[in-house]
Amino acid sequence: FRKCYLFNSDGGFILEENEETRIKRSDFPSGFLFGTGTSAYQVEGAYLEDAKSLSNWDVFCHSLGCGENGENGDIADDHYHMFLKDIELMHSLGIQAYRFSVSWARIHPRGRFGKVNPAGIMFYNKIIDNLILKGIEPFVTIHHVEFPQELEDIYGSWLNPEMQEEFIYFADACFKSFGDRVKYWITINEPLLLAEMAYELGVFPPFRCSGPFGNCLDGNSDPKQGGSIGLTVNSKMYEPLTNSELDYQAARRAFVFQSGWTLDPLIFGDYPEEVKEYLGYELPSFSHDEKNFMMNSIDFIGINHYSTTYAKDCTNSSCSATENCAIQGFVGTVGERDGVLIGEHTAVEGSYVVPRGMEEIVNLIKIRYNNKPMFITENGYSSPDVHEQRVDELINDVKRIEYHASYLASLAKSIREGADVRGYFAWSFMDSYEWLKGYNVRYGLHYVDRQTLTRTPKLSAKWYKNFLTNNTDLV
Ligand code: NOJ
Repeated sequence: FRKCYLFNSDGGFILEENEETRIKRSDFPSGFLFGTGTSAYQVEGAYLEDAKSLSNWDVFCHSLGCGENGENGDIADDHYHMFLKDIELMHSLGIQAYRFSVSWARIHPRGRFGKVNPAGIMFYNKIIDNLILKGIEPFVTIHHVEFPQELEDIYGSWLNPEMQEEFIYFADACFKSFGDRVKYWITINEPLLLAEMAYELGVFPPFRCSGPFGNCLDGNSDPKQGGSIGLTVNSKMYEPLTNSELDYQAARRAFVFQSGWTLDPLIFGDYPEEVKEYLGYELPSFSHDEKNFMMNSIDFIGINHYSTTYAKDCTNSSCSATENCAIQGFVGTVGERDGVLIGEHTAVEGSYVVPRGMEEIVNLIKIRYNNKPMFITENGYSSPDVHEQRVDELINDVKRIEYHASYLASLAKSIREGADVRGYFAWSFMDSYEWLKGYNVRYGLHYVDRQTLTRTPKLSAKWYKNFLTNNTDLV
């Protein structure tokens, strides 16, 4: 579906009316939560303030210069000092929920070897209280990519089972400190992606290339205080490249290896059969007690969905370099068929705009997990490199509006077909530090000037506001 934006006489944009393709707030259930998201390292800055210790990303960025051009998150968006203004902006958008992560190094600078840092707790208390004051529901991610460097130095982080104890200790401090007001928790963001980047491909700290992740359990006495606990999974959609049975199975395998690997143990108590079959002895196995402990241990599934690619079988035929034989070497991911791209390419390599993928991935997860409650915890559009675009082009982000509107229309369809999706978080509230890409890849609804850190609502922010408050998708 396609929308048309035209310049009006004042140089602003107007949307060409097209009743059929319009998406409205009222297309979603009334209790459905709309929000935006960020994560600590990507926005906070203040990397050494108020007794915070160095995180593994601070150390990585300082020693090796992690983002393109040697950029890092030392200052990021200075959300640490500007959070009140940011919450004000969120309020003016009309959102009902905000997803953010807590910095482990700010709360437990030395893990279990030290004490809880009161300044860290106070910072997040202020965020939570001010959100609630504005009627915005806090969704807290406990672990989003980074953790205190000291845990790396002492244990070698997630490769050591002691790290689970550290995580439980940290999560417990969060539940105790914030659980009276926070009712939605995301334990770990995209665990599979983290495992791949940090422990298999070795491009995120701690740069290991060591094969599958150990088992990590999420244990706690009574953390909920009436709240719900889930986690977020990176959920790309894979469509078969051809009509062949082999490619169909490759697409199926890609889904199972991506979502099933993380979610099956937490819902069914064990890894998917396909994963066991392909990985064999390399895959750790769970004891009977562990299986029982894990089974049905999450209340909701957080879906981070951005893009769709074709899947090509790599088991019976070999995949070429451009076919990018990913997913444990069993599936090639391909962006085009017969010379036609699956969707418009975004600023991120291998990421395409394919709105129907939202409905497809939600339906797959719905069917596999008996329609467990779902939240779309991330969905967003990255603008091409800032150096290639003028600031006014970045701010008049018509393509981002098209992206969100079309993905939301696809989501609304899956909800009409019975999927129990309860919320949607646009990634991201503002332009922020994009890991290995630094500040050039911008997902924000707000433009952040890197010199002044001024936030300017992009056209997409105005569109979101109109969508949420006036029930229209006009800008
Ligand atoms: C996944 C991650 O959770 C987030 O940190 C990142 O910025 C976005 N997706 C975009 O790449």
